[in-house]
Amino acid sequence: MKRIQRILLIGLFTLVAGVISHAANPPAPVPIARERLLMDFGWKFYLGNDWGIGQNLAKAGAGYGPASPIFSDASWRQVNLPHDWAIELPFDAKADGSHGFKAVGGAFPQNSVSWYRRTFNLLKADANRRLWLEFDGVFRDCTVFVNGWSVGRHESGYSGFRYDITDVANFGGKNVVAVRVDATQSEGWFYEGAGIYRHVWLVKTMPVSIAPDGIYVQSSFRNNAPGGSAQVFVQAELQNTHTASADAVIIWEMYAPDDKVLARGREPVRIDAANTTVRYEAKVDAPELWSPETPKLYKLVTTLVVGSQTMDRVETVFGLRTVAFDAQKGFLLNGQPYVIKGTCNHQDHAGVGAALPDRLQYFRIAKLKEMGGNAYRTSHNPPTPELLEACDRLGMLVMDENRLLGSDAANIDRLERLIKRDRNHPSVVIWSIANEEFSTQGTPAGKRVATTMQAAIRKLDTTRPITYAAPVGNDFIGINEIIEVRGWNYHIGQGADDYHAAHPKQPNVGTEQGSTVGTRGIYTNDPVLGYVSAYDENAPEWANTAHDWWSFYAPRPWLSGGFVWTGFDYRGEPTPYDWPCINSHFGIYDTCGFPKDNFWYYRSWWQDTPVLHLLPHWNWPGREGQEIVVNALSNCDEVELFLNGQSLGKQAMARDSKLSWKVKYAPGVLSAKGFKAGQVVAEEKVETTGAAVAVQLLPDRPVIDANGEDASIITVAVADEQGRVVPVANNLISFSLEGPGRILGVGNGNPSCHEPDTFVPTTTSRSISINGWHMKKDIDPNAATIPEAAESVDDSTWEAVDVNADNGPLAPHERAIFRVRFNVTAEDLAAPAVELWFGKIDGSGNVFINGQKIGSTGDSRAPSIYDVKALLHVGENSVAVAIANYGLTAGLSKGVALRLQEKGAPVAWSRSVFNGLAQIIVQSSKEAGELKLTAQAEGLKSVTIPIQSKAVIARPALP
Ligand code: GAL
Repeated sequence: MKRIQRILLIGLFTLVAGVISHAANPPAPVPIARERLLMDFGWKFYLGNDWGIGQNLAKAGAGYGPASPIFSDASWRQVNLPHDWAIELPFDAKADGSHGFKAVGGAFPQNSVSWYRRTFNLLKADANRRLWLEFDGVFRDCTVFVNGWSVGRHESGYSGFRYDITDVANFGGKNVVAVRVDATQSEGWFYEGAGIYRHVWLVKTMPVSIAPDGIYVQSSFRNNAPGGSAQVFVQAELQNTHTASADAVIIWEMYAPDDKVLARGREPVRIDAANTTVRYEAKVDAPELWSPETPKLYKLVTTLVVGSQTMDRVETVFGLRTVAFDAQKGFLLNGQPYVIKGTCNHQDHAGVGAALPDRLQYFRIAKLKEMGGNAYRTSHNPPTPELLEACDRLGMLVMDENRLLGSDAANIDRLERLIKRDRNHPSVVIWSIANEEFSTQGTPAGKRVATTMQAAIRKLDTTRPITYAAPVGNDFIGINEIIEVRGWNYHIGQGADDYHAAHPKQPNVGTEQGSTVGTRGIYTNDPVLGYVSAYDENAPEWANTAHDWWSFYAPRPWLSGGFVWTGFDYRGEPTPYDWPCINSHFGIYDTCGFPKDNFWYYRSWWQDTPVLHLLPHWNWPGREGQEIVVNALSNCDEVELFLNGQSLGKQAMARDSKLSWKVKYAPGVLSAKGFKAGQVVAEEKVETTGAAVAVQLLPDRPVIDANGEDASIITVAVADEQGRVVPVANNLISFSLEGPGRILGVGNGNPSCHEPDTFVPTTTSRSISINGWHMKKDIDPNAATIPEAAESVDDSTWEAVDVNADNGPLAPHERAIFRVRFNVTAEDLAAPAVELWFGKIDGSGNVFINGQKIGSTGDSRAPSIYDVKALLHVGENSVAVAIANYGLTAGLSKGVALRLQEKGAPVAWSRSVFNGLAQIIVQSSKEAGELKLTAQAEGLKSVTIPIQSKAVIARPALP
């Protein structure tokens, strides 16, 4: 039963005039009632579908293969999350081009299923708490096992999910989480990655606690336009897993952006043995408004107390701002027209695929801001939470997009979870229910489904408008009839004006525009190599150049501005080409975040500081005397161009436009001056460089945090004698790293490059067959003690048995113990992993090593593997397996072996620069110290740079 308490606390707890500082009122120390532990470190990973689904559908808690807690993953590769195994696979012309030609998916079954395992300990005292496993995103279709129990299956690769694992946890001992991931199916038509590519958390709460995503903060101003005080409404959802109700007190504190306490309150609440929702509100007299230019963040701390015990404490970051879409004025932020200068983006980056360290989210958002961008569309799926945190903190509006149109229970559930997860973020200003649902958008069913989805969002969030990214022109049918804000994918021109004239009350937004194609540093189309000229002259037939779409949108405020397809290149969709191209050409930036020339077009018209950029580069040996088109991208009133000091004329710039000259090529210096009101406000030059002589390494940050997560994103450049980047250099660079850290990935933005983005350590294994087995029948495998399993037993007189057949030797209802003796050397035991591998243990029973029981027998559907490194000793060892047959045949079969893992050759990292540039991403470990990165190339001067990894307090993580 739900109980709603409406508590009006205005005036009572609102401290409007006098802000209370920490010093005046130190908050009482808070015992840890909730722990949220990052679970990214120390996973084991195996690529392959060797064990089926792992789930025993007949019996509970009996997961087999890796799902079983006694399974050995000793020889598996160690990985940290986030992790994307698709990025590690080779490119293959037979693979799906829209997904980037990686050898994953239906045509590559051996590469499309993987297992992750993680072992951790719990305290005995944890038995008094609720435990949750939280996954921010797994691509895709995963089944999660805890201690052999299946705790849930989640199919969508983009929505977060959580499982309560309290009942199956092992308190005071070892716990094993196993995750089977199946990336055979895709969900989109773009690179999607594969694996646990977002964070995982272990959350411990008390039985009486704040519900997951249970705090919702929203604010309102009179007439939805700031001017005076803001009213802040809080809704706290509480949960109680006891059977009796609990009397509790909620204590809340609201902090201003400068961290001073702004308001506080307390309210008694009875929490039934179910969920209870409490609402309260506060007034903020002089709100500091959130906007991309002023990303001011407030904080609400909610503490739940029962008696004298703190049961929970949750911090919620929020912002104060208003949003609206007006049919004539366009988007309104804080009551004022605000032009959306946005980009659509997929979630992958060079070197790491879909598994971005948080630092890269900030890196990418900062890049988009550098261009004057103020908005981000999470096309076409829910983002990782850290992307929204970066947008909140750095200042970036977000269109938060659901993956699929659908009002079926599963889709509505995913939509509701998205809204609940993201509705406190001030950056999120509009929801998008779906993108380009061609076959259904104009149908009565499409309209009804969208109506249901819109209503579902409205129940959870009344403050944000809702749109749908419609790839149609003047079509008022289906979804467009009912959607609050008409979204425009492409279709600039008369149709848009006619639509607006016919539907003057419906607001609009350019959900997806541009799709201009260009390759960084390339100035002619080259279908063989798969490059497109970066002159802003190529777009597929449904799309437009940057100039065409923006010059249509800029003078039409009712369109609200729009989102360019795309901010960054992404893997897949190599339009307008196919293989050998493996990534898109749509980005304003390439996959590394290096700007293409269109960056300066947008920067010219999306922000106010003077911009002057010339293209192309000026290295054209052999073209002396031939005409080359030179463009100036600038927001100056006039631009004058010079070649080697000689003026080639001054031209006036039209708004939202660009300038062009035809210049007879001569090596030297192409330069320009930009004028505003007759004064030179910008100068630019492009020089013919000398030959490549040296490698440069330029880190975005030379000091990083030693927390195992932070990263330095390093530009690799090939330069001439004077240190100028050589814009046509394509040298292969090799890298080595010393010190406490690792190389995460490399990239170069070349859409046709098939060099690896990541270099995976290899191992080899040595297998020693174990033969010479003996068997004794009529032994009960489940007896309390089995003397025949003891180490000293002499089995030489027992029946000799071959265990290499396809089926075991036991007839129905027979029981037996199998034994063998074998020798192990010191060298064998020195291997990093020592495993005992059984092809098939058919039947029910137990396995013993040197007399010690190591677990019950595995499942006959898959090999059983045990970690025996600590159980074997140099010299003679014994293995015994006691089995009862409840089937047709049973026993040991398909061979038994000792598998020894050997270290592979050390990994050698390399990457070519593309048109002078490449990128290498270096990640810290938890150990502080100096990292030294060296880059070398044949015929070039090498370079070594230091990166300091400084000691910090890392966020709480599972050891
Ligand atoms: C759009 C689609 C995007 C992308 C783009 C390429 O129609 O929404 O996902 O495919 O085309 O131009």
